[in-house]
Amino acid sequence: MPRKQVIAANWKMNKNIEQVYDFIEHFSLQTSSADVYISPASVHLYPLIEKADLSKIKVGAQNICFAESGAFTGDISAAMVKDLGAEFVIIGHSERRHVFGEENDRLNQKVKIALKNDLTVIYCIGEKLEQRENQETLEVLKAQLLGGLAGIKSSEFTKIIIAYEPVWAIGTGKTASAAEAEATHKDCREFIAKTWGVNIAENITIQYGGSVKPGNAAELMSQENIDGLLIGGASLEAESFLSIINNVQSSLASN
Ligand code: PGA
Repeated sequence: MPRKQVIAANWKMNKNIEQVYDFIEHFSLQTSSADVYISPASVHLYPLIEKADLSKIKVGAQNICFAESGAFTGDISAAMVKDLGAEFVIIGHSERRHVFGEENDRLNQKVKIALKNDLTVIYCIGEKLEQRENQETLEVLKAQLLGGLAGIKSSEFTKIIIAYEPVWAIGTGKTASAAEAEATHKDCREFIAKTWGVNIAENITIQYGGSVKPGNAAELMSQENIDGLLIGGASLEAESFLSIINNVQSSLASN
């Protein structure tokens, strides 16, 4: 069976409610063989879920608390997100790791609580520029995979998507070339096969993220080990997010 393809929008801390509604109005998705996910700011989860056509998109959160419930001022729980009708959560985005100081063990708690609440997890990994320059990329990614996914049962891997996002490519306009991204995805899949088994490795969706645009999306997605995209800036406007989905769709259809 071919791997599930997932094209996901990460709106980060952008948009007001009018802009969320405006996006929905203009997001006229016809067809996509890839699943389409959208992750708005948490205050916009419910309005998006209420107004969007959920037969065409899945809505999810950008972050959740590591704990079940209680005295965690300002945080939101996996159960709350699930309760609204959200279906997934992004965990370990590089901004959470590097701006908010979230480490692998904390992220592992979040992954576990998300799975417990039946949310799909987009688990992000990625190296910084100096780590790539020092040839430490694979070591960093291995540690992020082992740390964040420690103790996850084999059967739970159907609810895990990996997003490889080199930190130096996020929001910078510098995309990893399709060949560079493919090589790293292949390394990650091989490591997953060694650690969790060939079956899990063959079936897990690995997205690429970092300055994906309508112009480079199809080439990235045509690589054997790239099964999806996680998109920040270019997902904010309906037109540009649609172009990405449509470009990928027509290029895959012609292959
Ligand atoms: P970008 O962000 O597409 O704006 O580089 C990607 C991400 O942070 O997920």
